[in-house]
Amino acid sequence: MAILVCGGAGYIGSHMVAELLEKGEEVVVLDNFQKGHHDALMGGKLYCGDLRDDVILSKVFTENTIDAVIDFAADSLVGESVVEPLKYFENNIGSTVNLLKAMRDHKVKYIVFSSTAATYGEPDNIPILESDKTFPTNPYGESKLCVEKILKWCDNAYGIKYTALRYFNAAGAHVSSKIGEDHRPESHLIPIILQVALGQREKIMIFGDDYKTEDGTCVRDYVHVTDLASAHLLAVKRLRRGEDSITCNLGNGKGFSVAQVIEATRKVTGINIKAEMAPRRAGDPAVLIASSDKAKEVLGWEPKYASLETIIETAWNWHKGHPQGYIK
Ligand code: UFG
Repeated sequence: MAILVCGGAGYIGSHMVAELLEKGEEVVVLDNFQKGHHDALMGGKLYCGDLRDDVILSKVFTENTIDAVIDFAADSLVGESVVEPLKYFENNIGSTVNLLKAMRDHKVKYIVFSSTAATYGEPDNIPILESDKTFPTNPYGESKLCVEKILKWCDNAYGIKYTALRYFNAAGAHVSSKIGEDHRPESHLIPIILQVALGQREKIMIFGDDYKTEDGTCVRDYVHVTDLASAHLLAVKRLRRGEDSITCNLGNGKGFSVAQVIEATRKVTGINIKAEMAPRRAGDPAVLIASSDKAKEVLGWEPKYASLETIIETAWNWHKGHPQGYIK
């Protein structure tokens, strides 16, 4: 039985494909390459196409014996989603709805869905529990929360069992340094700091130093991309055992401020990275830290690369070897 990875050529998707291949799973990848990179794929049977295209979906499910789907295919820029909400609702909801229709028609019963901490919005409690209120403060988070609700109704009507995984801040790169993080344009903190270390940017701008945190900068829970991938495989295995649908956070349960991440990167790289204060970025919550107790208990998940230094070091190793990212 094969696992279909939608968006398998993207940052988290490509690490998922690597993890599945390492664990001996049969992998089918569907990616439209709007953001994905051919060089990020370590293997698997590839289909180039869009989830909103019924013809390619039918081909994928007819030509392969797929029992589980892992869905990463989505737009994921919080800022862009505020300016272009319809793009996010159309793509993020529309593609997964189409995928679910194909799964229903081809009797595929398991899906692991890539959700996000952005479903919570500004949290009332830290660490955040899955049972806490969900009140997204941007269309990206809203689109993911909407799909979570759609999944619930598809389970109810068609018996499609799901695991929705709400990631906190995905970071780091594969330990082999063969694959890593390459967004165009890059907006994520660690890759931008590393671009400063590589001399490609003059400085890192710190978006806000007047938050109610210890040093005034935003606090996030960074989780290694390979640890995220391992949680998805555990989720597939659990669904294959016939267990019920669930939603779980994935984070390390430890927060680091932007200033702490910059300082840790200086230590890892040995380079004095220049930083400058800038105004707050719209829509940034002050603190996001996960409780991942549920993932640990229910999935048996144990992050292998939990330390911030390891996360930064693996990212640094990839960036040094790929200063231009995946060259197109
Ligand atoms: N930051 C800076 N300077 C930069 C880039 C980022 O100070 O140049 C700060 C941000 O303001 C934020 C922190 O670094 O406080 C982390 O920012 P990222 O852009 O790396 O990540 P986010 O926390 O904004 O977003 C991540 C995922 C989203 C997801 C969100 C959940 O990238 O997909 O977590 O809240 F929606």
